[in-house]
Amino acid sequence: MSVVAKSYNKSADPIVAYCSEHTTIQIPLQVELQKETLANAPFGGMLGAPEVLTFGQNFIRSLGGKRALDVGTFTGASALAWALAVPDDGEVYTFDIDHTNYKKFGVPILSKDQKTFQKIKTVEGPAVESLDKLIANGQSGTFDFAFIDADKTSYPAYYEKCVTLLRSGGVILVDNSLRGGKVADENQRNDPQNAAIHATNDIIYKDARTYSALLNLGDGTHVAFKK
Ligand SMILES: C[S@@+](CC[C@H](N)C(=O)[O-])C[C@H]1O[C@@H](n2cnc3c(N)ncnc32)[C@H](O)[C@@H]1O
Repeated sequence: MSVVAKSYNKSADPIVAYCSEHTTIQIPLQVELQKETLANAPFGGMLGAPEVLTFGQNFIRSLGGKRALDVGTFTGASALAWALAVPDDGEVYTFDIDHTNYKKFGVPILSKDQKTFQKIKTVEGPAVESLDKLIANGQSGTFDFAFIDADKTSYPAYYEKCVTLLRSGGVILVDNSLRGGKVADENQRNDPQNAAIHATNDIIYKDARTYSALLNLGDGTHVAFKK
């Protein structure tokens, strides 16, 4: 068992587990989606860590965020979290190469709360291309918040595009920034996914366009604040 872990897998470090317990807040709809995803969705462990989702909601609410980018939908847990946090006229763009899991496991649960569900806009296809289309459509600087949680080798590209799409003061959360601790181990960087996340952590740390902090929250959360 790793000390870096999503809370539904429990960290081996009792202090990390204690912090997660005293961070996570979920409404019944979120609990239902979490149970359904972990029980029935293929690769259910891709589900976003609830403590990271709460942390992101806190940023959105504190920022007065209205528009969120959600890169990697899966069954919709992160999209639901952001949709609950933005106001009634807010919107969440959620990107996935294939929305089959969202339609099968997410939509039957999320659609029970139509007011929240209507805020979620699905964009299917490779997310790098989808984000490029938003930039080409003049959306740069118009989003308040971004969550990066799709294929790991594209993380440097996702970060770059999200910085462009965020307004000054906007916040990016990068999920799996420690990947079970493997990213912090230089002997494990021959794995292309660990290497790409490590490269992203370096890019963020050195990026003069953002302030940032890398946290042992969930599977590792790199937080970047656009200047
Ligand atoms: C870790 S899951 C997302 C979890 C979700 N954010 C949550 O909180 O439960 C990663 C998702 O990225 C999607 N994905 C993989 N490659 C992609 C790509 N090139 N473009 C867009 N989505 C991709 C996968 O289909 C998968 O659903």
